[in-house]
Amino acid sequence: MMNISIIGTGYVGLVTGVCFAKLGNNIICVDVDKKKIEMINKGVPPIYEEGLEQLLVENKNRIHATKDYEHAIQNTDVTFICVGTPSKEDGSIDLKFVKKAAEEIGKQLKNKDKWHLVVMKSTVLPGTTRDIVLPLLEQYSGKKAGKDFGLTMNPEFLREGVAVKDFLEPDRIVIGYYDDKSRKVLKELYKDFSCPILETSLSAAEMIKYASNAFLATKISFINEIGNMCKKLDIDTYEVAEGMGLDKRIGRAFLDSGIGWGGSCFPKDLDALISWAKRIGEESNIISSVVEVNKKQPLKMIELLKKHVPKLKGKSVGVLGLAFKPNTDDIRESRAIPVVKQLLKEKAVVKAFDPKAMENFKKMFPQIKYCSSAEETLDSDAVLILTKWEEFKKLDYTEKIVIDGRRLLEAKNTAKIYEGVCW
Ligand code: UDX
Repeated sequence: MMNISIIGTGYVGLVTGVCFAKLGNNIICVDVDKKKIEMINKGVPPIYEEGLEQLLVENKNRIHATKDYEHAIQNTDVTFICVGTPSKEDGSIDLKFVKKAAEEIGKQLKNKDKWHLVVMKSTVLPGTTRDIVLPLLEQYSGKKAGKDFGLTMNPEFLREGVAVKDFLEPDRIVIGYYDDKSRKVLKELYKDFSCPILETSLSAAEMIKYASNAFLATKISFINEIGNMCKKLDIDTYEVAEGMGLDKRIGRAFLDSGIGWGGSCFPKDLDALISWAKRIGEESNIISSVVEVNKKQPLKMIELLKKHVPKLKGKSVGVLGLAFKPNTDDIRESRAIPVVKQLLKEKAVVKAFDPKAMENFKKMFPQIKYCSSAEETLDSDAVLILTKWEEFKKLDYTEKIVIDGRRLLEAKNTAKIYEGVCW
């Protein structure tokens, strides 16, 4: 059992905290947002993640949220930095929250006699923990890393929607470490996990996270490029993916072709890596192309739609799904954004439905019609499927023109006119 503080209660921080509490540790969450603090202390997660609420309630006596860094650092032995690392306008990474957290932790370490471990979990570019976080911690604490306090970099590989499961059953745990004591302490914290634990340098741990995300996004853009060729040749890309995936060197995962990837990680991380490559004078040809393919892919839907409804002006188009993937209300970089933008540009009447993401989408697109049910969107000149929600499988597509961006077989098998993006 350890006493752990977590800085930042976004989805990474909160999932990390709640899961470590489930494993028997005592957790203090720190956030600047008073509303989030109150919710967590009441046992209500401020974000939706499957299983999170139950774990939060079950372990309430071991989780406490506060604004107060002093309370958090003085009463714990390990601190995880889980703050956001958003993109700036130019795609480069914005480290203001990371710097602020390091500064605040440093100030508290100044008044702490006991050794303390700082764990960087936020996704940051290679070199950041060593060259930015470490100096800030030393500067504000007046102490020495590797002697008075420890430092590690422990990236997360959590998918939204299944983050709790991904945390508790990971493929691997990566421990980038500055000093040996820190390595041992963090390894001890993960002692109940049965997956491989890889020990690396701080910067290798940072790079593993970026390279993994870039590679996964590459798999998707790759299969989408192949898929676009397959569509022209009347080949089902999913058969191709299956055939490729059986090769152990390739693997079937992340070869689902469609309208591409969105979310809070892939787009931001790939942009950051590209802009970083430029700064260090290296090329990022593959990663840049992966992003380019992904930008064009959603517009394939409009192309296919126009095959059947050539003039979109005044025509009603039902949009099924606004979240960037199912089981989340997150619309960040959702492929629905460029699709709806283009529909509006061509003056179509957009009727959208999403089981969870409509409120978020409304903030960005107040001008479209939001339906009260999935069925209601079907009452349109054509229907677009943008997110593979389970409930869309049960709809009656028989009389419909359906353009499918996510391979919903139920629509494929029943629609009057059906076009899959890559099949
Ligand atoms: C991703 C990574 O998977 C995770 O390891 C990392 O920590 C954060 O980023 P997430 O953004 O939650 O997780 O979503 P993920 O399930 O990976 O899907 C990303 C996007 O790719 C979604 O828009 C999804 O629809 C799309 N996708 C995924 C495909 O188009 N095809 C696939 O085969 C897989």
